[in-house]
Amino acid sequence: MYVVTMASRKGGAGKSTLSILLSAMFAHANLRAVLIDCDVGQYTAHVWASQRNGAPPQVVAVEDAAELERAVARARAEQADFCIIDTPAGAAPVTDAAVLAADIVVIPTKCDVADRWAVGTTVEAVEVTGKPFLIVPTEVPARRLGIEASDLRRLRHDLADFDDVLWEGQITDRRAISYDLADGRVPSESDWGGATNKECLALWRRIMDVLQETPPPPGPA
Ligand SMILES: Nc1ncnc2c1ncn2[C@@H]1O[C@H](COP(=O)(O)OP(=O)(O)OP(=O)(O)O)[C@@H](O)[C@H]1O
Ligand SMILES: [Mg+2]
Repeated sequence: MYVVTMASRKGGAGKSTLSILLSAMFAHANLRAVLIDCDVGQYTAHVWASQRNGAPPQVVAVEDAAELERAVARARAEQADFCIIDTPAGAAPVTDAAVLAADIVVIPTKCDVADRWAVGTTVEAVEVTGKPFLIVPTEVPARRLGIEASDLRRLRHDLADFDDVLWEGQITDRRAISYDLADGRVPSESDWGGATNKECLALWRRIMDVLQETPPPPGPA
């Protein structure tokens, strides 16, 4: 079982959205994923899952680091293929535990200046563990004629030191994502051929590359 931890010190960076989008992708590849929601007080993923009549991924809400460790052990014992951990913003023991459990840490960031600054502190906290990580631009203005928005070019410029771990793709700012989530769906279920799903698939493949895994390719449900 691989553990993919979503982490960002910055609130609202896109951790929960990305956790849900990625987790749902595993069912399309006939793989079993457990999404562990550590964000006490919000439990975004848990609320989303409550509208899905038990459809995968399985979502488990935990309150602290000890519960998280038990949930990861349970997922492993139940032979899940992947465990995705959504963490709260800020520094917290549960996030430290989630990073320590990770095979890869995904760090979402929007293009705002505060997001760019927060990447540094998140990366520092991950680097001390030696875990591989990938920085993922989220809620990015759409490309025009195939060209990246200036906001993203600026983000790439400012994060040039992390060039090799800054995902070359983007998750674009689309209202339809939150409409899907509000209905207990994900873009891969509502519009498999759509632009958001293409981006999610590209990110999923990039994460598999880091993990050096070649699972069956996801396909429409
Ligand atoms: N690609 C996107 N397009 C449009 N809106 C997005 C996108 N990604 C995230 N958002 C929106 O940004 C807001 C914050 O996203 P999300 O809740 O995923 O962040 P978070 O990092 O989990 O926040 P928190 O730190 O509070 O847990 C939400 O309103 C979400 O709908
Ligand atoms: Mg969240």
